Amino acid sequence: MAKKQPNTNTSRINAQPRLHQRAAEIQPYGTVSHMLPLELEEPVRLEMTEQLNQLLADTMTLRDLYKKSHWQVAGPTFYQLHLLFDKHFDEQVELVDSIAERIQLLGGISIAMAPDVAETTQIERPPRGREEVPVQLSRLLDAHQVIIRQTRKLAERASELGDEGTNDLVVSEVLRRNELQVWFVSEHLVNMPLVNAVDSSEARGVA
Ligand SMILES: [Fe+2]
Repeated sequence: MAKKQPNTNTSRINAQPRLHQRAAEIQPYGTVSHMLPLELEEPVRLEMTEQLNQLLADTMTLRDLYKKSHWQVAGPTFYQLHLLFDKHFDEQVELVDSIAERIQLLGGISIAMAPDVAETTQIERPPRGREEVPVQLSRLLDAHQVIIRQTRKLAERASELGDEGTNDLVVSEVLRRNELQVWFVSEHLVNMPLVNAVDSSEARGVA
């Protein structure tokens, strides 16, 4: 019969969770995994992930601008804008996830945390305080414009480089969703009479 060996394993089974662990990063930001079976060369994936990260930072900023607007909106159109801003926020949340996961599948690293987003975004920072509805709407449209401009450039470059997956995501999801949201927001900045039509008022000489 074999002699029983002493247990040399010093890490005994223990129910205590191992807290406060840290270690070196396993992949630095701004790099891509070397070999992936995607038929896309490393330099292509590097360029695409860099540009997608810019789009991601701007989309996260627009997402948060919608939530700020949702909370802080005031005035007679409060209810409809409160709901519309939240709907657009939800849609931007989906875009954020699609862009971030595209970066990861290309072997890159998605930007994620607020301080990194703040350093990267091209969208103008709004004040912490409350602003009037026309200013809120204008800020949202300006942010959309930054993103739309970028999507067109990025889609074209993705096509040139043969990255049709990125082109499709950027055009079909990001660009088209942003265009639609621009329409819904910008119609609120048309100066329409609420009660008296201008023509009929003029015809009757009503001020
Ligand atoms: Fe809410």
